[in-house]
Amino acid sequence: MSMREARVDLGAIAGNVQLLRGLAGVDAMAVVKANGYGHGAVPAARAALEGGAAWLGVADLAEAHELRAAGITAPVLAWIHDPAADFAEAVAAGIDVGVSSAAQLEALAALPGRAEVQLKFDSGLGRNGATAADWPALVEAAAGHERAGRVHVRGVWSHLSNTGDDEDAAQADAFAQALDAARAAGLAPDLVHLAATAGALHLPATRFGMVRFGVGIYGLAPDDRPVAGLRPAMELSASVVATKRVPAGHGVSYGYDHVTSAETTLALIPLGYADGIPRSASGRAEVSIDGVRHRIAGRVAMDQFVVDVGDSPVAVGDRAVLFGADGPSAEEWAAWAATINYEIVTRIGGRVARVYVP
Ligand SMILES: Cc1ncc(COP(=O)(O)O)c(C=O)c1O
Repeated sequence: MSMREARVDLGAIAGNVQLLRGLAGVDAMAVVKANGYGHGAVPAARAALEGGAAWLGVADLAEAHELRAAGITAPVLAWIHDPAADFAEAVAAGIDVGVSSAAQLEALAALPGRAEVQLKFDSGLGRNGATAADWPALVEAAAGHERAGRVHVRGVWSHLSNTGDDEDAAQADAFAQALDAARAAGLAPDLVHLAATAGALHLPATRFGMVRFGVGIYGLAPDDRPVAGLRPAMELSASVVATKRVPAGHGVSYGYDHVTSAETTLALIPLGYADGIPRSASGRAEVSIDGVRHRIAGRVAMDQFVVDVGDSPVAVGDRAVLFGADGPSAEEWAAWAATINYEIVTRIGGRVARVYVP
């Protein structure tokens, strides 16, 4: 076992995709951006395809090229672009380009090949996507380029805010109108998609022809509504690298936020905020060692934190499970760090060895 290890259950990812796809009842795009939410983009993508995902989604072209370089030939969509992005390379690699602006569309239309594009509408989130004001001109221009054989508009899509059912339903209505406008302009997109995990699970009106599952494929619920049958794919653990017996009154970690109240054993865990362990969870989060929960004592430092294990017989080489089947959940960590489960898994850093279990 590596000193710091994120064990990723690829069977869980495949099973989660299969489950989610069945619940949604439409095709699924597996979102493997940000290194597969920390799980490893290429293995996560392969597992998701095995589980029945029809598409892969990533944020940027570098992430899409990483999949292609690994030999993954499945359809891929990328949607956040450097203003100086090399779309020619993307088109040559068979990557669909999410298009949010006229500038992006014109750059693609100017290329020698015929680019596959998916036009993104901002149905209310206020991030990427053409606004309702810019949409008519964008679809008109796209239809013109399509007639001239310069692009093919394979898809029309948008993204929900997950603010609430009413807000998301309003976005779905706005999106349906944008889709009508695209069709009226002469476009006939094969792929129409709006929902990510939350919408796909809880708001059938947002499913359209495909849904984009991110957090769900890693076995995590997108909000506080539990999803029966999902299996968290990542377990994060580390070896206890030192233990010491100290007397009462011993300070622990920077600032002495924790001072031992009695003679006790301190166990040193080689994970810190450089590895994605939130410093904001200092003094609150728990780990499991030999099946017993222990709280982090004092501050999480860059490379390490300390657990005050009392008189438990913890020894060097024992395993401390931060989250996963044999320890707390990513949701508990999210509560301790005042964040969301997405951030807990995604921020796990490069020093942590990923170990894949089929
Ligand atoms: C455009 C887009 N689609 C889909 C997803 C997947 O979302 P989720 O992880 O909530 O399923 C994301 C993630 O943030 C996204 O940015």
